[in-house]
Amino acid sequence: MRPIDPVRYTPFFSFRDGQLAAESVTLERVAQRVGTPTYVYSRRAIETAWRKFDRAVSGVPHTVCYSVKANSNLSILRALARLGSGFDIVSGGELERLRRAGVSGDRIVFSGVGKTREEIREALAAKILLFNVESEAELDALAGEAARRGIAAPAALRVNPDVQAGGHPHISTGRRVHKFGVDWERAPQVYAAGLRLRSIRWRGVTAHVGSQILALDPFRLALDRLGHLIGRLRREGVTIEFLDFGGGLGIRYGHEKPPEFRSYGKLVARTARKLNCRLLLEPGRAIVGAAGVLLTRVIYRKENHGKAFLIVDAAMNDLMRPALYGAVHPIARARRPLRGERWTRADIVGPVCETGDSFLSDWPVPEIEAGDLMAIWGAGAYGFVLSSNYNSRRRAAEVMVDGTRFRVIRRRERFDDLVRGE
Ligand code: LLP
Repeated sequence: MRPIDPVRYTPFFSFRDGQLAAESVTLERVAQRVGTPTYVYSRRAIETAWRKFDRAVSGVPHTVCYSVKANSNLSILRALARLGSGFDIVSGGELERLRRAGVSGDRIVFSGVGKTREEIREALAAKILLFNVESEAELDALAGEAARRGIAAPAALRVNPDVQAGGHPHISTGRRVHKFGVDWERAPQVYAAGLRLRSIRWRGVTAHVGSQILALDPFRLALDRLGHLIGRLRREGVTIEFLDFGGGLGIRYGHEKPPEFRSYGKLVARTARKLNCRLLLEPGRAIVGAAGVLLTRVIYRKENHGKAFLIVDAAMNDLMRPALYGAVHPIARARRPLRGERWTRADIVGPVCETGDSFLSDWPVPEIEAGDLMAIWGAGAYGFVLSSNYNSRRRAAEVMVDGTRFRVIRRRERFDDLVRGE
């Protein structure tokens, strides 16, 4: 009845003297100083993942544009900027974060189906590298705003390669039925329309097929279609310098077996080389997902009809993924299980007044009492950023561990924060 043991596959978290630690800092130390719930990230885990991803495509000219939406904490953005990362944004808010992190526009690509005129103006002023345009209507808006500035906007069209991919219906994006991009059959028409607009400068093609993708086949199929499209566009006189292949590479939460960065990198680099394109990639989860845990303490233990519940102080408002996608984030006690300890099963749930506020059901747990510290794994991506104030809960603190030290990179919200603006 032993559970999945993430310590075995995340080298930056380990037991030290029986205590779970991020790098050299025990989580108990963090919890005592900062309280719970708290997101804890390993800086080395983030940096190592980024470097490894970058190296996987080092055979071709490329920029790894970290997808800011996965985790937009300024300290994480700064750490990645220092490594030379580019960035993929989806809003004016994310652009502003990058500005505050000191990132220049030429390292930014802008995706998203609903860029407003205001956001387009801000991005033009920031001189970003590429607008990933998702419709004809957006192309017109971009052209209009660029014309007003007397410039030509650098653009790529997001095409929808119609492949089935992604770990859950809510995070697969590349099918025809989805709102994203333009059908790949119709793309040539949109490019032709762009050629007639003096304030649009086509520079590439972009696609993003989904998230938490655990096989290479959907990527292969999409790349194949993009290759054909790029060939045709060039024959029709469109300049294509960039192939922006989005993000989507999955990670291991529990039993998943995602492709290695290396095999993914080889596949995309091969296509980029063949097409003679500069490769842009927008990984989010693959960079930060495994680098973070959500620390939480058990408030109560209770039984209902013979079923055990551990009620913890983190809830669905802190980490939405289980409620939203049925995602399984393994949870472990921050104290190493002892030999001979009795294991039982329990539901691990939060205090929010919703049945959906459950992290895991029937999960194997060692002996756990109120006050025990627990770590919810794989919480680095789409964790804090998706959190809310539901039930008037203050959003969690975020902590960055760096070797033997740690730093609060976002303080826990105060009650004043809850009513600000009301
Ligand atoms: N590029 C574009 C255009 C995207 O839409 C996304 C994610 C990415 C890059 C980064 O994808 P990644 O490498 O992280 O898979 N909240 C969901 C995931 C939503 C993904 C949205 N788009 C979750 O928690 O699983």
